[in-house]
Amino acid sequence: MTLPLTHPLRDGRTADSAVVRAFSGDRPDRLPVWFMRQAGRSLPEYRAAREGTAMLEACLRPELSSELTLQPVRRHGVDAAIFFSDIVIPLRLAGVDVDIVPGVGPVLGAPVRTADDVARLAQTGPLTREALAPITAGVGLTVAELGATPLIGFAGAPFTLAAYLVEGGPSRDHLAARTLMHADPSTWFALTEWAADVTGAFLRAQVLAGASAVQLFDSWAGSLSRADYLAHAAPASARALAHVADLDVKIVHFGTGTEHLLTAMRDVGADVVGVDYRTPLDRANELLGGTVPLQGNLDPAMLAAPWPVLEAHVRDVVARGAKAPSHVLNLGHGVPPTTDPAVLTRIVELVHGWGS
Ligand code: CP3
Repeated sequence: MTLPLTHPLRDGRTADSAVVRAFSGDRPDRLPVWFMRQAGRSLPEYRAAREGTAMLEACLRPELSSELTLQPVRRHGVDAAIFFSDIVIPLRLAGVDVDIVPGVGPVLGAPVRTADDVARLAQTGPLTREALAPITAGVGLTVAELGATPLIGFAGAPFTLAAYLVEGGPSRDHLAARTLMHADPSTWFALTEWAADVTGAFLRAQVLAGASAVQLFDSWAGSLSRADYLAHAAPASARALAHVADLDVKIVHFGTGTEHLLTAMRDVGADVVGVDYRTPLDRANELLGGTVPLQGNLDPAMLAAPWPVLEAHVRDVVARGAKAPSHVLNLGHGVPPTTDPAVLTRIVELVHGWGS
């Protein structure tokens, strides 16, 4: 299957955009920049629009998810939008009792821990076109407004999703999940395969509706050893990405604390590796053999530092990124809610002022 003729990548809108070109390994005239979690609580217009609407409900109302996606593009002039949604949305669409508790994160009605729990889960899905309709509609409204600015679709990787499902909520070391993968590998395998198909369907729906690239977030993969990642996470991530492999969109793969996993994260099918702030981009580039486009990796903590300190940090990150085949500037994790939005705008202006 190929993309519809009216898709932004095929009808001339985004194929030559700086972000799509950089994801393809080119160095466009100016360095592209966007920010993970650019839509959200750092913006007063976000807080106003979200007032009285629960997080996951907001994700499932197409007019609202579209408006929240567009807000940071209008305000900051970033080179890409990222669809306003959440990694747990496909779980909710599959019927899982999950909610997002403000200040906490995703919380499950009941954790999924036993072979029976997984078998029950596996009876749901695959996600139908009807279940995905709010996503398709939200993406459609968004790309109609974005013009030449590409929309990045995203999904959570199976390991990170499984970590929430098994733990029942956020956890520091993902102990219960890591125990399950060793104590009952076949149950773990079934769980991650189910998660791969649900999250893969969510990703595919965004691309078919108009996303010009995608990012797989394996936020918690860094808690795994390389051996455990290869044996117990990578196969399911490859399976999730296989859902979009025929669509010819570039795939970014991001996790935190993943220096030891960068090559493995590329090898599951990524075109671009997202690097967190702990690994300098020149080091990431070396580890990846100098052949992989990189995205990252400003330290979110620097956003609150005095401008000269932050500016020096931006210049350092960009200089290190210049060693890679291509680079899309981003943060090394999401925008903290306390960030002054004017600082993000100033970074975009700085970078766009340089040309190449
Ligand atoms: O601008 C964007 O990046 C797009 C939207 C986006 C959200 N979540 C919206 C959101 C994206 C890409 C995500 C991904 C996501 N969600 C990840 C992977 C990225 C990462 O941070 O590692 C993870 C682990 C989640 C799960 C999740 N959802 C957490 C940990 C939280 C934080 C809880 C809190 O309140 O601090 C959420 C909630 C969430 N997702 C918010 C937003 C804007 C905040 C909810 C609110 O505004 O009430």
